[in-house]
Amino acid sequence: MKVTIIGTGYVGLVTGACLSEMGNHVVCLDVDAKKIQVLNDGGIPIYEPGLKEVVQRNVSAGRLQFTTDVQLAVNHGTLQFIGVGTPPDEDGSADLQYVLAAARNIGRYMTDYKVVVDKSTVPVGTADKVRAVIAEELAKRDKQVDFAVVSNPEFLKEGAAVEDFMRPDRIVVGADDERSILLMRALYAPYIRSHERLLVMDVRSAEFTKYAANSMLATRISFMNELALLAEKVGADIELVRKGIGSDPRIGYQFLYAGTGYGGSCFPKDVNALMRTGKEYGIDLKVLNAVDRANQHQKTVLVEKVVARFGADLTGRRFAMWGLAFKPNTDDMRDAPSRDVIQALAERGATIVAYDPVAAEEAHRVLSHVKSLQIVDNVAATLEGADALLILTEWREFKSPDFDQIKRLLKQPVIFDGRNLYEPALMRDLGFDYRGIGRGT
Ligand code: NAD
Ligand code: UGA
Repeated sequence: MKVTIIGTGYVGLVTGACLSEMGNHVVCLDVDAKKIQVLNDGGIPIYEPGLKEVVQRNVSAGRLQFTTDVQLAVNHGTLQFIGVGTPPDEDGSADLQYVLAAARNIGRYMTDYKVVVDKSTVPVGTADKVRAVIAEELAKRDKQVDFAVVSNPEFLKEGAAVEDFMRPDRIVVGADDERSILLMRALYAPYIRSHERLLVMDVRSAEFTKYAANSMLATRISFMNELALLAEKVGADIELVRKGIGSDPRIGYQFLYAGTGYGGSCFPKDVNALMRTGKEYGIDLKVLNAVDRANQHQKTVLVEKVVARFGADLTGRRFAMWGLAFKPNTDDMRDAPSRDVIQALAERGATIVAYDPVAAEEAHRVLSHVKSLQIVDNVAATLEGADALLILTEWREFKSPDFDQIKRLLKQPVIFDGRNLYEPALMRDLGFDYRGIGRGT
């Protein structure tokens, strides 16, 4: 099939690459000429395991190309995926300007039947707006061209994006005409051969499903974080509690890890956007409100622990930090909890010496205003002469570190672990003052 992807970011690039992997001919469009240049020069603008190989293989095979040429891109695909950003507006609602600009371009240049697929995360009712914008552009040209607008939200996780796309647990398609449903079924059939995992529903339910999924996941995390705060006080270990409740299949083990608060480009923004939709319709989403507030607070917990140990004035103190990205296997720093922690420590006068296996460059870019932050290229360099170690991201290489080295290089053997990587009893045995999240035993 011929497919166009509008917006070649995380979602667009992964979608384009993985669709070309199955033999589709894919053109990826972006307004960012630098990004397209990098891709055309054989580079990958983001760190995502396995993505480079898929992109290179399909570019070489002539099935995947990148362009800034809008007309070429719109002419190419029968399926026109919109995968542009939907960042939060000032009031928290999703800013649809990029989605509607993409739609406008489709309307401006289309000459034959198109299925316009909303892959961006967009509020309920967006498909109607996309349809209206395209119709308006066609009317301006006095053209009668048939088209359908379909909702196909994306559920991939960064760091596992290729795997998630190639082996989805479900594909949601919101559509209301048979022709577009047939095309979407055909496109996704190779990814779900073993059993049916394509759920067809009406457009509004599909749009809503995306926000419901992210909000549900964010709720689990905030609830566990809140339980962790209490576990510390009552002398319980949240990790044992997680196993205790997760063994109930109605609850399950996943997404129950207490930590430094959820970050990334989606949970914070989508929780807020859904609250905004609630407001618009006169529904105060009380649970979601609490989820968001709990998350704001959770981002301060690690610093509160530092202050409890070293005092409010951290002038002259130096802290080692392991991990900057909002989660492992990505260089994405959007809404990463490390940013709040670094900011708060710096405001109290501390110096931070940080290491991240892949996010250093991105961290430099987004934290260039923090003069007391140094980013180094190995763990040992963070530790030398530091008052304590803080762990912000659970990269694999931090899971079994050289504890002797940590003890030797730190001024004092103190670890604030925002990811609960180690066993508290073992750490005590090794002579560390070890403070995790919710590990009160
Ligand atoms: P991103 O910022 O990485 O990429 C968006 C791209 O769109 C940018 O490269 C930008 O230059 C381009 N763009 C903007 N306007 C354009 C236009 N008119 N024409 C062509 N290109 C244009 O964003 P992302 O993380 O890929 O997210 C995209 C959407 O997918 C968002 O709605 C997001 O909520 C959703 N989503 C993201 C993820 C994720 O893990 N990042 C997962 C699921 C859903
Ligand atoms: C999330 C969803 O998991 C995807 O299904 C969705 O497609 C995506 O948002 C999106 O809409 O963009 P992502 O943000 O890539 O994916 O990462 P997650 O693995 O969900 O982690 C999000 C945040 O929650 C991270 O900061 C992570 O550290 C935190 N988290 C996750 C916890 O604190 N505890 C957990 O148990 C799980």
